[in-house]
Amino acid sequence: MISSNMEKALNDQINAETYSAYLYLSMSAYFADQGLPGFSAWMKAQAQEELFHSMKFFNYVNDRGGRVRLGAIAEPPLEWSSVVDAFEAALDHEKHVTSLINSLVDQAIEEKDHATNNFLQWFVGEQVEEEDSASDIVNKLKLMGQAAGGLFMLDRELGQRTFVPPSPEEE
Ligand code: FEO
Repeated sequence: MISSNMEKALNDQINAETYSAYLYLSMSAYFADQGLPGFSAWMKAQAQEELFHSMKFFNYVNDRGGRVRLGAIAEPPLEWSSVVDAFEAALDHEKHVTSLINSLVDQAIEEKDHATNNFLQWFVGEQVEEEDSASDIVNKLKLMGQAAGGLFMLDRELGQRTFVPPSPEEE
């Protein structure tokens, strides 16, 4: 059984992860509108991954006898000033999510809730990857500058990404 404080914090994280999916879907639409189908596909896969994160929290709250409460999802931004601006916003968002996960771990440790701490460790590792992949793309975009050929190549590369449905143990 989780505490009511932990239940509230985990419900807030369901909201934050679902908002992340919304944010990346909005970025996917922005890239589609910019004529960049590869960037758009990458963000769509990212949105699916965020829904998977959200479902992991959803299932965990249920499994621990908590009550899931789904709050309103905020409206994400519609436009960004450039491709690099959008990816910098994605990186900033991932840093924010990392801070949310770290706060949840702090709370689990304070409450001596070892099971929740153990559950959260998957997300601690995941956030390292999330920040790394966004940061890698920001760096590539900055290196290529205004070169249209580079943007076209990167669009093709990012378009290869697909969301791999997790194995049953991961659900
Ligand atoms: Fe669910 Fe991108 O953090």
